[in-house]
Order: sequence, then C-alpha cells, then structure tokens
Amino acid sequence: MITCLISSPRANGFGSMIAAKAVEGAESVGKAVSIHRLNDMTSYRQCQNCGGCKNNGCHCVLKDDITPILEEIRDAEGLILCTSINFNDTNGLFKLVFDRLYSFLDMNSCSAMPKGKKVAVIVTAGADDTSAERVSVELEKIMEQHFYCQSVGRISYCTWFMPLDMPMDPDVLDRAFQIGTRFRDC
Ligand SMILES: Cc1cc2nc3c(=O)[nH]c(=O)nc-3n(C[C@H](O)[C@H](O)[C@H](O)COP(=O)(O)O)c2cc1C
Repeated sequence: MITCLISSPRANGFGSMIAAKAVEGAESVGKAVSIHRLNDMTSYRQCQNCGGCKNNGCHCVLKDDITPILEEIRDAEGLILCTSINFNDTNGLFKLVFDRLYSFLDMNSCSAMPKGKKVAVIVTAGADDTSAERVSVELEKIMEQHFYCQSVGRISYCTWFMPLDMPMDPDVLDRAFQIGTRFRDC
C-alpha cells in the first residue's frame, strides 16, 4: 500500500492533478493507494519536541488527525508527498505533518521507520521554480538520508499562476504516471 499526502488546499489544483497521475501510475502496477488530503484534517498540532517518541518505541504521543497517518506511513510500502510552495518553502500543513516524522527517529537519531520504502515528491509553485526545485530536492534528500527511502522520482512544477481551468503540460502528467509505475517493485 502506498500513502499519498496532498497538502495544497486546492482539491482540484495542479499538485492534486499531478499526484492523481502518480496514483494512477501506481494503481496501474497493482498498488493500492491511500490518499490523505491534509486540508480535510480538523485536529492537528505541530511536533512538541517532547521526546515522548524517544521513550516509547518511536510512536508520536500526540493524538490528533495526524496520528493515524503516521501509523499508516509506518506500514506503507511507499509514499507520494505533494506540497505547494508558500513563501519559498513547503506549505504549513505539509510542514506540520512532515515534522511529525521526527517521531520515527530514536534517541540516537536512527530511524525506526522500516527501511526501503519508495518515495515520490511533487512540489508546485506559482512563479518561483527555484524554490520548487530546491524544496523537492531537500524533501527527497531527507527521506533518503533520515528514513532510508528510495526515490522513484520527483517533480517540481511552476504554474506561472495559471487559472485552474487551464490545461496542464501533458509531459508533466506523463512523467507523474511513469513515476507512479516505479512503485511496482516495492
Ligand atoms: C500563502 C501563499 C504563499 C505563496 N508563496 C509562493 C512563493 O513564495 N513562491 C511561489 O512561486 N508561489 C507561491 N504561492 C503560490 C502557490 O505556490 C501556487 O499557487 C501553488 O503551488 C499552486 O499549486 P496548487 O494548484 O496545487 O495549489 C503562494 C501561495 C500562497 C497561498
């Protein structure tokens, strides 16, 4: 099972469309995908840096809408991470959930997340393609270096503030589908 996190509040936005293609690719090779639209969450807190997870086998002690997502991630074969750029960085909801992955690190900063998950990263920006590229590289690096994931690809996409009803570059959607198919072997 693949866990897909979509964090832009725009349910029909560009990030959602790219992620949907990656999901389609994963499903085409027989993978089930569980999609979480983070904007639908109603209860969430940021990592409290309380250390609770360092004393209980790497489980976040907070109980909110992020808790079951973290438990799902623990068991997932792969992850699709999708964020929009807000002021040169990931958007706030994405950052809230992403920081909670800290609970998978033990007191020696070793990951208790089962190794070898595949990860795809999708980042959209209105105009700043540099930030989209940088953030996608950084997210991929964190997943590989801290959590021993294996990247199946990343997409950074600059929308140039196109209205939502404008057609997307089909090459980008094709790439997203291809990336999704790379979850085949996990
Ligand atoms: C609060 C906020 C801050 C933003 N800051 C940036 C920014 O720094 N650089 C940029 O290129 N786009 C910025 N944008 C535009 C979004 O990145 C863009 O609309 C989004 O990536 C489009 O993807 P979506 O359709 O999936 O939401 C910002 C949008 C919002 C709402």
